[in-house]
Amino acid sequence: MSKIIIKTDEEIEIIHEGGRKLARIMEILKEEISRPGYLTKGLDKRINELCEKFDAKPAFMGYRGYPATVCLSINDEIVHCTPGDRIIKEGDLVSLDFGLRYKNLYTDSAISFGVGKMTPLADKLIKVTEASMYKGIDQVRPNGHIGDIGQAVQRYAEANGFSVVRDLTGHGVGKQVHEPPQILNYGREGTGPIMKKGMVLAIEPMVNVGDWRIKQGIDGWSIMTADGELSAHFEHTVAVTDDGYEILTKE
Ligand code: MF3
Ligand code: CO
Repeated sequence: MSKIIIKTDEEIEIIHEGGRKLARIMEILKEEISRPGYLTKGLDKRINELCEKFDAKPAFMGYRGYPATVCLSINDEIVHCTPGDRIIKEGDLVSLDFGLRYKNLYTDSAISFGVGKMTPLADKLIKVTEASMYKGIDQVRPNGHIGDIGQAVQRYAEANGFSVVRDLTGHGVGKQVHEPPQILNYGREGTGPIMKKGMVLAIEPMVNVGDWRIKQGIDGWSIMTADGELSAHFEHTVAVTDDGYEILTKE
């Protein structure tokens, strides 16, 4: 098992600067995409433009060969779907997963939102997924266990009648897009590595209306629910501080 990289206060400040940029770009993208008829074809170009404006680089393009600047997953799609030339429709549940490189350090964040009028079930899924992420984040503290995060996420999501995806996890982030440790969104309290000040963690529950099982698309990237039911995804990059945590992918 490779070691979890501890970041200095200076590095965490830079990651936070990048994270603020990421949050602002995400808000703009959400606003632009949230309308029926939006053409996703132009999204990579738009993101490159925004990144230039915010003096940062998109982190995912080319990462392990990933062919887009963002992951845009709709309805039963969970993660790692490319924008392609799809058109957003009224009632779509859209998940955007986006990362930045700023001064050679990485941030990673995801949001889900509805386009126009949504079913009560879709609205509930979005709310519960976001809240489950915050339940997980609330477990972040020095000397806590990584397993405390997944336990809190799972308990909250399942108490609301949903399931958590098992095959995909959160992760360390900062020097690279993905670093150790893996952060499961399920499991037991008191298990896994011990958290230390200076660790930077991407906490990212993916929550399904139906079963937790996934299937993979033929493009080799896209991942959707095996049963075709809706899925949502939220993610923040979070630092372990002296007495708790700080969320770095927001103001
Ligand atoms: N946020 C995504 C994750 O943690 C990063 C995807 S990289 C990509 O899985 F190359 F797959 F886009
Ligand atoms: Co991530």
